[in-house]
Amino acid sequence: MCGIIGIVGNASVTDRLIQGLKRLEYRGYDSAGVAVISDGNLLRERAEGKIAALEAKLGSNPIDGPVGIAHTRWATHGVPNETNAHPHFAGRVCIVHNGIIENFLDLRQSLNGRNFRTETDTEVVAHLVDEEMSNGASAKEAFQSTLAKLKGAYAFGMVIDGEDDKLFAARAGSPLAIGIGDGEMYLGSDALALAQLTSDLVYLEEGDWAILTSDGYEIFDRHNNAVERDVTVIVGGPAMADKGGYAHYMLKEIHEQPETVSRTLSNYIDEFRQTPSLPTDIDFAEIDRVILVACGTASFAGEVAKYWFEQVAGLAADVDIASEFRYRKPVLSENSLFIAVSQSGETADTLAALRYCKSHGVKTAALVNVMTSTMAREADIALPTHAGPEIGVASTKAFTSQLTALAALVIKAASDRKTIDSEAVSDHIKALMSVPGLIAQSLQDEPHIQEVAKTLTSAEHAFFLGRGQFVPIAFEGALKLKEISYIHAESYAAGELKHGPIALIEDGTPVVVVAPMDELFEKTLSNAQEVISRGAEIYMVTDKAGQQHAAGAARHILQIPECHNFVSPILTTIPLQLLAYYTAVHLGTDVDQPRNLAKSVTVE
Ligand code: F6R
Repeated sequence: MCGIIGIVGNASVTDRLIQGLKRLEYRGYDSAGVAVISDGNLLRERAEGKIAALEAKLGSNPIDGPVGIAHTRWATHGVPNETNAHPHFAGRVCIVHNGIIENFLDLRQSLNGRNFRTETDTEVVAHLVDEEMSNGASAKEAFQSTLAKLKGAYAFGMVIDGEDDKLFAARAGSPLAIGIGDGEMYLGSDALALAQLTSDLVYLEEGDWAILTSDGYEIFDRHNNAVERDVTVIVGGPAMADKGGYAHYMLKEIHEQPETVSRTLSNYIDEFRQTPSLPTDIDFAEIDRVILVACGTASFAGEVAKYWFEQVAGLAADVDIASEFRYRKPVLSENSLFIAVSQSGETADTLAALRYCKSHGVKTAALVNVMTSTMAREADIALPTHAGPEIGVASTKAFTSQLTALAALVIKAASDRKTIDSEAVSDHIKALMSVPGLIAQSLQDEPHIQEVAKTLTSAEHAFFLGRGQFVPIAFEGALKLKEISYIHAESYAAGELKHGPIALIEDGTPVVVVAPMDELFEKTLSNAQEVISRGAEIYMVTDKAGQQHAAGAARHILQIPECHNFVSPILTTIPLQLLAYYTAVHLGTDVDQPRNLAKSVTVE
C-alpha cells in the first residue's frame, strides 16, 4: 500500500530517504513526505503527487539531519492531498504508517480536546503517543501502550522530539524490516527500499515492535518480551531496482521472462530425470482437493491451474478470490491443500484466507515471489516463484512464473495420482522446458504488436474472449489493458457473450480473441464470427494452425509459436502483455505507476 523508510545515524539522511522512497514508489504514489530531526528540531516537508513533487519542494526548502523518516502514500482514509500526506505530527511525535487503524474513530473520540488536522487514521496514533508522554510516560512506555490500543494493520516508523537518537518501529499486518548498517540503522517496508543502504535485514514478525539507535536495535514481541530475530542477507543489492536500459520496468520485466521462467523451472523440474522436483515435496495422492486463493492477476494464474489440475491430474480444484473466500465460510475438508498465490506474499485478503485455512486444520502452501513475505513465513509449505523483484505495478513476469510453478505442481499431482504415465509426464515436462525459448521467440513479434497497439488507442471499450484454459488468459489480457491504458476492457468466456454483453458490440469495437488451435477452437471462432457480423474488429491471439483456420476473420493476428497445448496459456500471455504495454505507451500513460493503483495491497 504505502511505503515507509527511516534512518537513524550520524550523517545526512534526506537524500538517502528520497532515494529509498523512489524504490518504494511502486507501493503508492498519491503523496509523499519526509521528516528529520536536526539539532533538536523536528522538520517536515510533504507534497501531493509523486516523489518528484516532494523533491521539488525540498529543492526550494531543504531540510536535513542525521535521523529521519519518509513515506509514499496510497490513500485509504482521507483524500490524497498534502494535508493528509505522511509524516503526521502531534506534539513531540512524528509518524509514518502503512496499513489501516480500524478503530481510529473510537480512539479519536477518546482523545477529547486534541486538535486533529487530517482525515487520516494515522494521526490518532501520533496523538495517543504524545498524550501518554504528556501524562508522564516515557517514550518507550507511551509507544508500547499505544500499540496495545490499536486494531487493524500497521507498519510504523516514528521519531520523537527529545528522543533525537531513536527510531521507533512496529509491525502488525504490514511488512517492516530493520536494516543493519555501519554506525547507522534503517527501517524499510521491503528489501528494495534499503537495497542501496544494506544487505543485512531483520524482518519484524507479527506484533513485534522495536527501538533503533545508530549503533543497534532492540526488538520486543507482542507481549513486550525482548526477542532476537534472524538476520537475512539479501542478494541482488542495488541492481534489483534498475530499469536495465528499458523505458519502463514493465518492459524490462516482460523481456526478462525467458530468464525468469527458466529460473522457476530449474527450481521445480529435475531436467536430468525428467521429473517434477518441487522445492518442498507434496504428496498429491493424499490430497482430494486443491483450493487456490488469490487476488487479481494471481487469481487468473489460479484459474488456469484449476483447468490443469482437473484435466491433467484428475484432481478437484476450486479457485476463489481472496476477498470473498473467508467471508463466505467455505466448507473445508482435511485432505484439501490450500495454495495462496501471490507475487508479494503480503496481500491482506490472501493472507487472511491462508490464516483462515490454517486455523481450520487445512494444509497450506504459499506460492510467492517474495520469500521473506508473511505468507511464505506462515504457510506450512513455501513455494518460491523466483521471478525476481517485480517493480512495474502491472504484474507480468510474476504471472508467468506462477503459471510455470503451478504447471510443475500439476505434473507432480498427475504423476502421484497416476492419471498420466511416465511417458506423458516426460511429454509435459518437455513442453514446459521449451517455454523460455518460445517466450524469447514470441518477444520477436514486439515491433508488429507495437504497430497493432496503435489501432487500439482510439477505443473506448474492448472485449477479451477465450474458452477453456484461455478464459483466465483473456481476463488477464483485459486487466493488463485497463490498468495501464485506462481503456475499459471486459473479458468473457466466449460462449457467454451472446447471453447479454453482445449488445455492447458496435461497428469497430475491438474484440481480442485468445484461441490457439485446440478442440474448442472452432467454437471460439464461431463466437468471433458472431461479433464480426455485428461490426467488431478481431485481434486474434493464436498459433499458425489457428491463423490458417481463421482465414480472414481476424483484422490482426498476434501469433504465438507452435507449442504443446498444456503450455499455451503461458505463451498467449506474452502478446497480451505487449499489446497492453504499447497501447499505454502510445496513449502516454504512466505505465509503471498507473493511476489509483499500488503494487502491494496490504489493506482489505
Ligand atoms: C495486476 C496486479 C494485481 C495483483 C494483485 C495481487 O497487474 O498486479 O492484480 O496481481 O494485487 O497481488 P499479489 O500477487 O502480490 O498478491
